[in-house]
Amino acid sequence: MGITEKGNPRKPAGKYGELMLDGMNSRHSKVTEWGLSFLHAEKDAGLLDIGCGGGATLRRLSQIAPLGLISGLDYSDTSVQKSREYNIDLIEEGRVRVIKGSVSSMPFDSGSFDGITTVESFYFWPEPAEDLKEVLRVLKDGASFLLIADIYGGYDFDMETRENIRKFGLFNPTPEEFKELLLNAGFSDARIHLKEGTSWICAEGMKSCGI
Ligand SMILES: C[S@@+](CC[C@H](N)C(=O)[O-])C[C@H]1O[C@@H](n2cnc3c(N)ncnc32)[C@H](O)[C@@H]1O
Repeated sequence: MGITEKGNPRKPAGKYGELMLDGMNSRHSKVTEWGLSFLHAEKDAGLLDIGCGGGATLRRLSQIAPLGLISGLDYSDTSVQKSREYNIDLIEEGRVRVIKGSVSSMPFDSGSFDGITTVESFYFWPEPAEDLKEVLRVLKDGASFLLIADIYGGYDFDMETRENIRKFGLFNPTPEEFKELLLNAGFSDARIHLKEGTSWICAEGMKSCGI
């Protein structure tokens, strides 16, 4: 897990925050790659990554949709700055933008995105049930949201991880609860993917036309 360092992973700041974000870019690489295998996006899709942190997912999304605009959103100044540095070439080409803001009230019109992702961030969101409604709002009809994480409730974690979940106050639903959260937020369908032999989860919420 990426929550064992000094500093505050809920809202990275300062020197420790920068180091933490560099570390997360590499540590979250495998779970992100696996989770994004469930993303079905056209080459010109407009995609959003919420809680973009150090920016590695934005670069991956730009490879999946090389003709689309990839947006990153994060409420930490340090994360916004690191994501911009990490993707400076893509930003200069006009393919990536990084915006400061909170998931609870995103500065986007309704129905803006062809796909939305969030990696190792949901467990920090202040109002998970309400925040999912905000995600649904900015998603286009027919598009999907992928929530990717390396923890979920009910998994048999070791003591250190259990202590970290407690220490950092992580919201950690079971797979069934993830599904319920998505459906209660108004997603028309929800699928849960678990990676065998790991504690990885990818919760997928679909927005059907007419919601
Ligand atoms: C553990 S880091 C993960 C970063 C990156 N997604 C990754 O996988 O390496 C969590 C990120 O979510 C951001 N975050 C947490 N709560 C947020 C919120 N309410 N709105 C926007 N960003 C948030 C934090 O600032 C941080 O950059």
